[in-house]
Amino acid sequence: MTAERVTCEPTRPIFPSPTGLITSVDAAGRPNIITLGEVFNLSIRDPVIVGIAIAPARYSHELISAGGEFVVNLPPAEMLERVLQCGQVSGREVDKFAQFGLTPLPATHVAPPLIAECPINIECRVRDVQTIGDHDLFQGEVLAHHVSPELLDAEGRIIPERLSAVVFAHWSFFAMGPLLKRWR
Ligand SMILES: Cc1cc2nc3c(=O)[nH]c(=O)nc-3n(C[C@H](O)[C@H](O)[C@H](O)COP(=O)(O)O)c2cc1C
Repeated sequence: MTAERVTCEPTRPIFPSPTGLITSVDAAGRPNIITLGEVFNLSIRDPVIVGIAIAPARYSHELISAGGEFVVNLPPAEMLERVLQCGQVSGREVDKFAQFGLTPLPATHVAPPLIAECPINIECRVRDVQTIGDHDLFQGEVLAHHVSPELLDAEGRIIPERLSAVVFAHWSFFAMGPLLKRWR
């Protein structure tokens, strides 16, 4: 590529990112779902902590702040339309599980449910919240990590390409690309 550079407006300058469907519950146990492009690993092993960045106006922000728990569900590419739908309406107006034909499954450690259609579900307890500019960063300690057996090899290792994750980049969506190399 050329060494020439054009200076661009830095909105979501780092890409791509995975797309997650994050579940939470209200005080009566009614579940909600929010689509997030800002989903990260913050501490990898000891302890395992994930981060999600949510704007204060979102209903999910209110629910996760009050309940202190959430589940990160990783959707496969075939769920793209529902990923978009969950990111375009608020749980203040709509029951997204019912409206978009998604199935709640009980979690083992937290009140918010897993989404059955998502083959990876990560149960989290909020350990810290920080305001970072226009979003708040919720740090979630991972209490349980559920994976569909279809994504595992005979030794129980995750074969990541079997998820065909929804990858988000500058308002476009991609399926995960071809495997370049298995490092370990
Ligand atoms: C692909 C995509 C990525 C999004 N990423 C974020 C995000 O990282 N943080 C955020 O606060 N909202 C994000 N949104 C917007 C919320 O999903 C949207 O405002 C949603 O309707 C909020 O739902 P709630 O009010 O039920 O919580 C994203 C939406 C889409 C479609």
